[in-house]
Amino acid sequence: MRKKNVPIQGLWTSKWAFMLATAGAAVGLGNIWKFPYITGENGGGAFVLIYLLCVVFLGIPIMVAEIAVGRHGRGNPAVSFFRVAALSHRSKMWSAVGYLLILAGFLILTYYSVIAGWALDYVFKAASGIFDHASAAKIDGLFENFIHDPEQLILWHTLIMFFTIFVISLGVQKGIEKAIYIMFPGMVILLLILVGYSIDSGFFGQGLAFLFHPNFAKLTPQNILIALGHAFFTLSLATGSIMMYGAYLPKNISVFKSAIFIAVADTLIALFAGLAIFPLVFAHGLNPGEGPDLIFKSLPLAFGHMQYGHFFAVLFFVMLVFAAFTSAISLLEPSVAWVIERFNWNRAQAAILVGFIIWVLGFSTVFSFNIWQNVKIFGLTFFELIDYLTANIMLPAGGLFTTLFVAWAVDKTILHQELPHVNKIIFNAWFYAMKFFVPVAIFLVLLNVLGVI
Ligand code: PHE
Repeated sequence: MRKKNVPIQGLWTSKWAFMLATAGAAVGLGNIWKFPYITGENGGGAFVLIYLLCVVFLGIPIMVAEIAVGRHGRGNPAVSFFRVAALSHRSKMWSAVGYLLILAGFLILTYYSVIAGWALDYVFKAASGIFDHASAAKIDGLFENFIHDPEQLILWHTLIMFFTIFVISLGVQKGIEKAIYIMFPGMVILLLILVGYSIDSGFFGQGLAFLFHPNFAKLTPQNILIALGHAFFTLSLATGSIMMYGAYLPKNISVFKSAIFIAVADTLIALFAGLAIFPLVFAHGLNPGEGPDLIFKSLPLAFGHMQYGHFFAVLFFVMLVFAAFTSAISLLEPSVAWVIERFNWNRAQAAILVGFIIWVLGFSTVFSFNIWQNVKIFGLTFFELIDYLTANIMLPAGGLFTTLFVAWAVDKTILHQELPHVNKIIFNAWFYAMKFFVPVAIFLVLLNVLGVI
């Protein structure tokens, strides 16, 4: 293995480049597509509260750890684990955790690109005016016809993968940074416009109450697991993305402050997305627990009956594409960096090869909605299986191992080098939380999912 002397793939040109790229990785379909519908399915306020607690007490500490390991290791996650373990005189086997993270990100992209493709298709549907004054039956039919047509889904999935591969093949500064500078601010502006529009709907109070009024009677252990899995997913933890972007972080930037900024930005955007969506859903008497179809059925229906809805529907789906795209590139980078560093390939070749494999594997998600919709493994379609396996098992497990590595295996001087100038009390609070609280909490939730408790 050529792990010791591989050169670093790039460095962010500034602190903001890193912050925006990482926030762009974090903000994605998870915030705008998944968070609203799982909040709807899991009963609203109480679920949101658990999710917020998971972000603050588990997500931020792990994010600090991932960035620190990435920056110290300066390579793809497998290399970073390998190097940091070697410097700490620990077993090189720790690099297996790096592989677990890379694999999780790789698998997520196989379906992520397909769903991002739906959003792209919906930009064109919205622009065509097809939602205007349409009945619920018509909008349902549009969506059902769409997902039952594998060729359509493959077309949009192909376009998303094509652009993702293109940006990644241009590299850290010329590719990722450039795309982020356009798309991240664009997405935030569009979202704020949409929240304003939603305030205007007259049902804003109901949306607020749904998100923030907790009803603990509805909370089950399963909800807690979903909240935890989602906290990892939405922060892009345990997928290699954050650790990879951390590897490109110049030394003089504070890891702690960056992690807090990213988590706050990600959470605010999820809440704003909820505030943009739920009032419109309520204004039209629709059901917030609709499921994955929520933004593809309820929202177009709502937009179709609102003033200027045609225009705002286009803005909404463009925003969703921007959000999804900045995440897709962060999902591809770790496995591409691995191929480059492991086999000495050039970037474009590596991006095309890895992207191609992901594109092909994505067909399993495409077919889960049509020709393979009755093919079930453990009662789940391929898409549901990959989603369950990654969000609810691989991410918590990856987070758990990363935590154990940082708190129990890594030499403490390395942590001090990566977190200089951090107030002693804060450092210790973080360190001891990582040693005991975080792993125990994740472990309990994992046992629960496996049915042990
Ligand atoms: N965090 C992204 C979202 O919320 C998804 C993602 C997961 C991106 C893991 C990168 C890595 O949509």
